Amino acid sequence: MLEEFGAPLNVTDVELAEPRTGEVLVRLEACGVCHTDMYTASGADPSGYAPTVLGHEGAGIVEQVGEGVRSVSPGNRVVTLFSPQCRECEHCRSPKTNLCLAIRDQQNLGYLPDGTTRLSRGGDPIRHFMGTSTFAQYTVMPEIALARVSSEAPPDRACLFACGLSTGLGAAINTAQVEAGSTCVVFGAGMVGLGAVAGCRLRGAERIICVDLSADRLELARGQGATDGWIGSPDTVARVLEETGGFGADYTFEATGLVDVMRQAVESARMGWGLCTIAGVAGKGETLDIVPRLLITGRRVCGSSFGGVKGRDQVPQLVQLYLDGDLNVDPFISHRIGLDEVNRGFELMERQDGIRSVITFDR
Ligand code: CU
Ligand code: ZN
Repeated sequence: MLEEFGAPLNVTDVELAEPRTGEVLVRLEACGVCHTDMYTASGADPSGYAPTVLGHEGAGIVEQVGEGVRSVSPGNRVVTLFSPQCRECEHCRSPKTNLCLAIRDQQNLGYLPDGTTRLSRGGDPIRHFMGTSTFAQYTVMPEIALARVSSEAPPDRACLFACGLSTGLGAAINTAQVEAGSTCVVFGAGMVGLGAVAGCRLRGAERIICVDLSADRLELARGQGATDGWIGSPDTVARVLEETGGFGADYTFEATGLVDVMRQAVESARMGWGLCTIAGVAGKGETLDIVPRLLITGRRVCGSSFGGVKGRDQVPQLVQLYLDGDLNVDPFISHRIGLDEVNRGFELMERQDGIRSVITFDR
C-alpha cells in the first residue's frame, strides 16, 4: 500500500471483492518493480493519488472470471496490461495506434471501468493503480487488460513483458519498423533501451550503437545485440555524425526520459529519412527543443507508448520470442525479492543496481 507520498510502502492486508462483469481475479506469481511505481510513490507525479496499491508489471494465473468474460478462463497464465486492448474502439480497430480508448478515464482516476473499486479497507474504497495494482497476491482487473500467454512462460520472465521490455521491443519493431541492414542508435540502456536494442537486432539492423552512462549496462546491451557501446556525453551527436559519413543514423531511439537526451536522439537521426522514436517519458511540463531545419531536411520524430504494442494480440507473440530462444531476458532480472521487500526493490532502483528487481510470490 502506498499510504502517503514519500513514505515507504506498507505491506498489509486489504479486502479484494469478487470480479464483476467483464472482470477477472488474478493470482499474481511475479511482478517487476518499475520506475513508474517509484515515481508515483515519491509524490512527484501530479496526477498520482494515495492510498493505492502500486505495481503494474504482473504475471499470474486466472483464478476466477466475472460474467461475460470469454477470452481467459481459470488456470490461464496472463500478463497484466496497463495499456489495454478492447478490440472494439476506434483506436483498437485502427492498425495505426495501440492507444485503446475504452477505459482510459476511469483507469487514470484509479477506478475499474464501472467507476468503482474492488479494493477496500474497513469499508473505505482504495483506488487501483494503472488499472493493475499488482504489488499484491491477488488483483481484479478488466478482461481487456490481460494478455493470455503460453502456460510454459516462466512468470518471473513473463512479467518483464508487461512494461519496459515490450515498450523497447515494440518501439523498434512496431513504431520504427527498423529495416534490415540499417544503422541504429539507442540512447539509454535500462529496460526500455535494452528492449529497443533487441528489437533492432531482431529486425536485422547491421549496426546498433547503444549510449549510456554505465559501462555495466552497455555490457548488457552488447548481450542483446549492440555492436557498439558508448558512454554518453555532450559529444555523442558529433560522434554519430562522424561515424556515419556526416549523415546520422537511420533510426534513433530515446529511452531515458531526459529531454536533453531526446534532443541528441533527434539530432543524431539521418538527414533525408532518419526516424527518431521517443520511448522515454519526460516529466510533466517539460519541453523538447528541436531546430525546425532538421525536420525540413528529412528527419522525422515520433513517440511510442508501450511500443505501439496492442497488448492482448502482441504480448503473447513477444513472450514467444523468449520461449523460442530468440530473446534472452534472463540477464534483466538482477534481484528476486519477496513482496515484503518491495521497498528494497525501490532502493536498488534508486542506486541503479541492476535492471529489474522481480517480486515472486510463493503459493
Ligand atoms: Cu513500468
Ligand atoms: Zn480499444
